[in-house]
Amino acid sequence: MINLKSDWIKDVNYFMELPSTQDHAIALARSGAAEGTLVISEVQTRGKGRRSAGWHSPVGGLWFSFVLRPSVAPAGITMLSLGMGLSVLRAVKKTTGLDVCIKWPNDIFLEGKKAGGILIDMESVSGRCEYVVTGVGLNTNVNTSEFPQELKEKVSSFCEAAGRTVDNMKMLAAILKETEKVYGLFKAGKVSCVLEDVKKHCFITGRKVRLAGTDGDNGFAEGRAKGISEKGGFLLELDGGEIKEFFSGSLEILSEGSGADQ
Ligand code: BTN
Repeated sequence: MINLKSDWIKDVNYFMELPSTQDHAIALARSGAAEGTLVISEVQTRGKGRRSAGWHSPVGGLWFSFVLRPSVAPAGITMLSLGMGLSVLRAVKKTTGLDVCIKWPNDIFLEGKKAGGILIDMESVSGRCEYVVTGVGLNTNVNTSEFPQELKEKVSSFCEAAGRTVDNMKMLAAILKETEKVYGLFKAGKVSCVLEDVKKHCFITGRKVRLAGTDGDNGFAEGRAKGISEKGGFLLELDGGEIKEFFSGSLEILSEGSGADQ
């Protein structure tokens, strides 16, 4: 039995192997699963990343998804998505002491490489959110040299950086505890302190970046990262000097020496 010490987690669905905890949690949410339904799997055989990418999920990592039912308009999810990244960051810092940071919107970076990602799937009905499924994937106890060739140089792992094994269940419990706090603030409309902390930990400001799959045109935009807006959007100074705000897209860091390009 997993003791998560999180009152808001109502139902734990634990698996040795699943195609994707995200797909499983979405199916549960669609059939009426309550807020606080958690799905966790030791291995995923068809893990999903953002923008239809796959997500390599071998044994040793922490792969889970949970259901939330916030009563907000879909636009509010931008801030929730940032908040989820912050919860994970705080929990990782607390449990490992590692110096992790956030790449907008909510990638977890460690030593200049991606160590974790967050996927948000949402369904709305009549302009209100019906459910939000948050999927979290963390390279806790994985050996990056065993990752597929195209990922090896782009990913980092907590156990390799810390030089010791990370307790996945303690990490999960810490993330759920931090999520409860951040979600409480979000529901109370107190998002400014969440946003300030996200800004503090977001390392991309000032760097040359390319944003692929930008809103509306499915193209890309290049320029200098100016930070995160009050609405949680990404501010990009285009090469012509104009500052544009984006709410979706995948960031690639172009500045030399950053070491991060995923
Ligand atoms: C990203 O592309 O950065 C997001 C990756 C999210 C991966 C997690 S692992 C648990 C959950 N199940 C999935 O299939 N994906 C998410």
